[in-house]
Amino acid sequence: MGMLVNLRDWIDARFPLTKMWDEHLAKYYAPKNFNFWYFFGSLALMVLVIQIISGIFLTMNYKPDATQAFGSVEYIMRDVDWGWLIRYIHSTGASAFFIVVYLHMFRGLLYGSYRGPRELIWLFGMMIFLALMAEAFFGYLLPWGQMSYWGAQVITSLFGAIPVIGDDLALWIRGDYVISDVTLNRFFALHVIAVPLALIALVIVHILALHEVGSNNPDGVEIKKTKDENGIPLDGIPFHPYYTVKDIVGVVVFLMFFSTVIFFVPEGGGYFLEQPNFEPANPLKTPEHIAPVWYFTPYYAMLRAVTFDIGPLTAKFLGVIVMGGSVVIFFFLPWLDKSPVKSIRYRGPIYKTMLTLFVIAFLTLGWLGTKPPTELRTLMAQIGTVVYFAFFLAMPFYSRMDKTKPVPDRVTG
Ligand code: HEM
Repeated sequence: MGMLVNLRDWIDARFPLTKMWDEHLAKYYAPKNFNFWYFFGSLALMVLVIQIISGIFLTMNYKPDATQAFGSVEYIMRDVDWGWLIRYIHSTGASAFFIVVYLHMFRGLLYGSYRGPRELIWLFGMMIFLALMAEAFFGYLLPWGQMSYWGAQVITSLFGAIPVIGDDLALWIRGDYVISDVTLNRFFALHVIAVPLALIALVIVHILALHEVGSNNPDGVEIKKTKDENGIPLDGIPFHPYYTVKDIVGVVVFLMFFSTVIFFVPEGGGYFLEQPNFEPANPLKTPEHIAPVWYFTPYYAMLRAVTFDIGPLTAKFLGVIVMGGSVVIFFFLPWLDKSPVKSIRYRGPIYKTMLTLFVIAFLTLGWLGTKPPTELRTLMAQIGTVVYFAFFLAMPFYSRMDKTKPVPDRVTG
């Protein structure tokens, strides 16, 4: 023991080890009323680590070469010791990442976590979300299956819809006139190092910003407003050991679900690994029905919902704008919400209705995006798109009008 204390003191004289431990764990006071929804931040962190570690092992046997990529994945699945497990961890992990992050973001909508003084936590969170989407998109090309190839073809050609510079931009991104070995090589570089580095850096600043202002909670009450004589929030408890232990429970429950999927339904019924991707990429044969993985389908449905030109602007270009706008609009949330209260517990019926409609629209769009379009489905996607945008664009009005309840001074537990 004495030696360990000496070692700690030796380090502390040269590096802020104890200082960091205290600031971010032992003396970080988190509200005592965290609930279910507060598990997903630490789970996102764990999934990130799982993806990085499984990704490193995949990279040891994967070949980023158009003639070998598909075969190298088959080799990993069949011949590499435990390769099938590493690959299923990584492919299921991608879907798990989006499930966890969507629930994490939804918590923000429930409790107004994006509101001042937490705007920067939210903005960093949105940058993480963009990086995550890029990461998933680049990664999906790597197995070089039919859906990898044609999905990337569809998405890169969307850039071609941008007036004037579009075609050159798409060419620049692909590095070729179509998706090719050149594209595969650069997507590999982006997927294994560039985007993960950005993700890690963004997660660090996300958490630093959080620890600067302190966590919100299901009541939306600022615990820093009521402190004891030592300056410790009366409704706060030290993150360690209380929430480290609680978060471990979340991790165990998560891993039970995660391993059930990996061992019993690794393809997730065609949603986690799509069926056409078991066929090698063939530039001469377009699959009958191209659809992105489930986590992109709400945006894909909004892209396809725009079926009409407006003046010189083509439907394709307008679709790209709507699709881009549907993600970018989340950045503005802290400034669109004018409600005097943060948490849904004290909001009125209008916000509750709008949030419910938004969730229904998001899920319906997600389902529509997995299906080939019909006239009825296109109409449904158009209605869904209007509801989706109304949630944001009408927010400055309805959040002000809504009848709110009085917020208590202290958290209610
Ligand atoms: C790799 C992805 C992410 C990781 C690892 C991560 C990590 C975390 C962690 C550990 C916390 C504290 C625990 C908690 O409140 O659950 C947190 C809080 C928060 N995160 Fe994230 N996050 C990620 C993505 C996002 C995204 C995409 C958004 C939204 C656009 C976001 C918005 C927030 C907000 C607003 C808080 C504060 C919540 C509150 O205090 O009520 N995060 N994040």
